[in-house]
Amino acid sequence: MSFVTDASYARLIATLYAGEAIDLRRREQAWPAVPPRALGRFVGGGDFLRVGDAFLTYFKQYGDLKPTDRVLDIGCGVGRMAVPLVDFLDSNHGSYDGFDISPPAIRWCKRHISRRAQNFRFVHADVRNHMYNRRGHWSADDYRWPYIDGAFTFAFATSLFTHIGPKATDNYIAELGRTLAPGGRAFLTFFVLDSLSTSTRTPEIDFAYDYGVAKTRDIEVPEEAIGYTEEFLSSSLERAGLHLARPIARGRWSGSDETDSFQDFVIATKSS
Ligand SMILES: C[S@@+](CC[C@H](N)C(=O)[O-])C[C@H]1O[C@@H](n2cnc3c(N)ncnc32)[C@H](O)[C@@H]1O
Repeated sequence: MSFVTDASYARLIATLYAGEAIDLRRREQAWPAVPPRALGRFVGGGDFLRVGDAFLTYFKQYGDLKPTDRVLDIGCGVGRMAVPLVDFLDSNHGSYDGFDISPPAIRWCKRHISRRAQNFRFVHADVRNHMYNRRGHWSADDYRWPYIDGAFTFAFATSLFTHIGPKATDNYIAELGRTLAPGGRAFLTFFVLDSLSTSTRTPEIDFAYDYGVAKTRDIEVPEEAIGYTEEFLSSSLERAGLHLARPIARGRWSGSDETDSFQDFVIATKSS
């Protein structure tokens, strides 16, 4: 036996949906925007807004980011770094472009960030990655980014190179060299393997397995955490017309307390 009549059930549903619609509209308008938990795997660990704010400070401090920069975010996920940049970048002279291989992440960014800031553009790249987009069409090993040569003055990749293999990393660094303008800066996070991170300090991640010229901690799913030697990075940067702008800043993963970041900072410049 039903406890609600058809009419009262219809009223109940209408009320619920009206409430939900209002709630959704509120959530769309809320700023700074925070993605739903379901999209959490496209973000690294920690508080979404606090980590974004901290990285804006790092971008300024280590990469000399300016409000007038033309910025590229490689593997932008759900816009954790884009959100704080909305108020920082000059809406007339600065710009932001981000791409990622996850369709839901890019949909969320377009809906919540581009609607608010028209100089913020997001592109979906249908590239394969075992963890993030298994059925992607293109291989990251030779994917050409959808931007013209010299388009950007500042590019960054946070927690991306820690999830892609050596050929893809080499190709992405070459693409970075192509799309940065002369004098452009890049802020990249890595797990950099060297004698410090493998012996004198206590690495939190055990990169136990060889993965080509890289190392991984999980041979079943190598993309879960990948580390590179400084020699590999330096020669890849050099081939791309880039060079290290300052010594690598070590992250907490290696036991260092040089920064509050878990991953290492690699800051590179394109020769003028
Ligand atoms: C740990 S998340 C970090 C996201 C974002 N950079 C951040 O710091 O919040 C890694 C991101 O890299 C993206 N990704 C993985 N492989 C990629 C590739 N080959 N090209 C572009 N993005 C990629 C994933 O879809 C995911 O959003």
